[in-house]
Amino acid sequence: MLQGKKIILGITGSIAAYKAALLLRLLVKEGAEVQVLITASGKEFITPVTLSALSGRPVLGEFFEHSDGTWHSHVDLGLWADAFVIAPATANTMGKMTNGICDNLLVTTYLSARCPVFIAPAMDLDMFQHPSTIRNMQILSDWGCHIIEPGTGILASGLSGKGRMEEPESIVENLKAYFSGQYTPKRLSGKRLMITAGPTYEAIDPVRFIGNHSSGKMGFAIAEALAKEGALVDLIAGPVALKTEHPNIFRHDVVSTSEMYQLCLQIFPKTDGAIMSAAVSDYSPMEVVTSKIKRSDANRSIELKPNPDIAAEMGTIKQAHQILAGFALETDNEELNATKKMQKKNFDFIVLNSLKTAGAGFGTDTNKITIINRQNKKTEYPLKSKRDVANDIINYLVPLLTK
Ligand code: CTP
Repeated sequence: MLQGKKIILGITGSIAAYKAALLLRLLVKEGAEVQVLITASGKEFITPVTLSALSGRPVLGEFFEHSDGTWHSHVDLGLWADAFVIAPATANTMGKMTNGICDNLLVTTYLSARCPVFIAPAMDLDMFQHPSTIRNMQILSDWGCHIIEPGTGILASGLSGKGRMEEPESIVENLKAYFSGQYTPKRLSGKRLMITAGPTYEAIDPVRFIGNHSSGKMGFAIAEALAKEGALVDLIAGPVALKTEHPNIFRHDVVSTSEMYQLCLQIFPKTDGAIMSAAVSDYSPMEVVTSKIKRSDANRSIELKPNPDIAAEMGTIKQAHQILAGFALETDNEELNATKKMQKKNFDFIVLNSLKTAGAGFGTDTNKITIINRQNKKTEYPLKSKRDVANDIINYLVPLLTK
């Protein structure tokens, strides 16, 4: 499938550079002509001798050949190639690419390349999560580069490990898919979204709490669907019995409303938007009793204080580029109440689910929603699985995030 395809393989300075040798071998096996371009720090991790032996061509790294003064033209290289694959791509190289810093042949070739560019990032978790890396990946993706990460490429290996370079086999599959016209790029690569999900629990004493029946299924399905579209997802989850699989989901487990609130305050400003799907406890006990309350025959009451309205707080700190959406679970005057809630909390749209509909709401695997936006446009959807509902919500969200 890659027979005769001309591919530039860019290698930068990451420990994952050893995988580039495997990738190169696979590309050659598929019939591709591969020109290796390596940065100076790439050479610290893998030797050009190995790479030239595998590719059958001299490895290029410098603008000039010191031995005979030959000049390597980045323009010619960029025109020659059918695809430019940068694997591994370090945070440093991606930073240079987004800023036009052409201090090596690899980045210079990127700037003049007219072919599709595939980038397989590789770095440690802290670097991968840094806002500058997230921003650079988003810019590169907006410019049309295909970011291939574990779990997000079209035929991803699905192995977990944020910042770990995608497996060579999967990168080759991505290229094959691209050349056979099956490549549908992820619509939210480089975007970062926050989701709240599940209930919150408010302690009464060390063994008892105020909570609700939320299962978290809807929020988890949204997180999964966003991650599959290439977004990085911060999932802030109350106590639920659900697992997260996707490597793009950063899960933050919390118990109480105030913990959820504090995390949301930290994370929301770094995102492109949030979907508030948690069933937040509106009140918490004035006092948490430190030892277990003993049985007695007397009546007891628990005095409650209101909790912060997390969604409304996010609505006040929302920046112009951010999209904020939430849910409304209503029993009466559903559309009117949902619209009021959307306005009060400064949501861009609200997802209404009615408790009156059989198969919708808490605990079920299905849901029936109506989306209402600020222009009061209502979009009704039929009863569907929560996974399909999550896709409907994401289809609604994507144009708002990418406009
Ligand atoms: N929400 C929140 N923090 C709260 C209460 C609600 O973030 N303390 C969010 C929910 O995640 C949901 C939206 O606000 O996206 C609406 O939640 P809902 O419980 O329907 O609304 P309330 O504001 O609690 O209003 P009420 O209970 O009076 O209907």
